[in-house]
Amino acid sequence: MRGKVTIVGAGFVGATAAQRIAESNLAHVVMVDIPQKEGPTKGKALDMLESAPLMGFDSHIIGTSDYKDTSDSDVVVITAGMPRKPGMTREDLIATNTSIIKSVIEPVVKNSPKAILIVVTNPLDAMVYAAYKLSGFPRERVIGQSGALDSTRFRSFIALELGVSMQDVQALVIGGHTDVGMVPLASHASVAGIPLAQLLSTQQIEKLIERTRKGGTEIVELLGEGSAYYAPSAGVTQMVEAILLDQKRIIPSAVYLQGEYSVKDLFLCVPVILGASGMEKVIELKLPLNEQEMFKKSAELVRQTVGQVRL
Ligand code: NAI
Ligand code: 2OP
Repeated sequence: MRGKVTIVGAGFVGATAAQRIAESNLAHVVMVDIPQKEGPTKGKALDMLESAPLMGFDSHIIGTSDYKDTSDSDVVVITAGMPRKPGMTREDLIATNTSIIKSVIEPVVKNSPKAILIVVTNPLDAMVYAAYKLSGFPRERVIGQSGALDSTRFRSFIALELGVSMQDVQALVIGGHTDVGMVPLASHASVAGIPLAQLLSTQQIEKLIERTRKGGTEIVELLGEGSAYYAPSAGVTQMVEAILLDQKRIIPSAVYLQGEYSVKDLFLCVPVILGASGMEKVIELKLPLNEQEMFKKSAELVRQTVGQVRL
C-alpha cells in the first residue's frame, strides 16, 4: 500500500519535494501551508496532479491549510519557515523560524502521532532540536535533513574537478549545517573505490571542502532571492524513500546524539541508517585528528545556536 507524506510549507523546497516524491510513486502527498496561502497551495498540488498521466505516476497530491487532511501521515517533512537572503546566515533566521516551528508541531503531532518527522527549516540543527523537544517524539522519529544535501554537493564538486561520473563519487559531510561548522570528510571520500587523496592534491581537496561548506551561500548569492531547493528536495526525497521502503540506507543526517562522537543532547549530522523505524542506528566513524577537531568545534558552534532557541 502506498504511504502518506505530508509536507509542511509549500514553498520552493516543499513543493519541489512534493513533486519529486509524487513522481517517484512513493506516497500520496499532502502539502499544508498557512490559510493565507491556501489558494496557491491547492493550485500547486492540482498542477502537479495534472502532470501524472504524462509523468506516469498514480500518487495523489492535495494542497490544504487544514491539518485534518494530514492525518495519519507516515512521514511529515517540515519546510515551513523563512529562507535566508543574500548577506544573511542561517542563524539569522532563528527567532522567526522557531515561532513557525512552534506553531506547526502541535497540529502535526495531534494528527499524525506515529509519524517520522524530517525537519528542513533553518537553522537546521536548532530547528530540528526545537521540533524534537516540542513533539515529545523519540529521537528515532525526529531527523534533520542536512547531510544528504551537503554530501551531494561535495560529491558533485569532486566529480566536476576530476571530470568523472557523479555516480562514481562517494563522499560524506558531517557536523553542523553551517558554513563554518560543516565537516566534509576528505578521509572517507573515494572515486570508484580509489581514495580521493590519490587523485587530487591537498590544495585541490581543501578548495573543494571550502566550496562545499559555502555551497548554500553560493546558491543564495546567485539566486539573489531565496535559497537552494532542487538539491535540498532531492535530499529529502532520498530520506523519505529510505524510510518508506525500509531500505536501511546510510545517509548522513542530523540526529539527537546521546554520547556518540562524544556529544550529548545535541542534534548534529552523522552517518545513520534510515529505515522504517526512522533513524535506526548511528554509525561511529574513526576519524583522523584534524577531522575530529573540526567536528568538536562544529558541536560547540551548534550548541551556541541551540542556546538561543526559546521554546
Ligand atoms: P519558501 O519561502 O519558498 O517556503 C516556505 C514556506 O513556508 C512558504 O510557503 C510559507 O508560506 C510557509 N510557511 C510559513 N509559515 C508557515 C506555517 N506557520 N505553517 C505552514 N507553512 C508556513 O522557503 P524555502 O526555500 O522552501 O525554504 C524553506 C526553509 O527550508 C527555509 O528555512 C530554508 O532556509 C530551509 N532550507 C533548509 C535546507 C536544509 O538543507 N536543511 C535546504 C534549503 C532550505
Ligand atoms: C542550503 O544549504 C539554504 O541550508 C540551505 O542551501
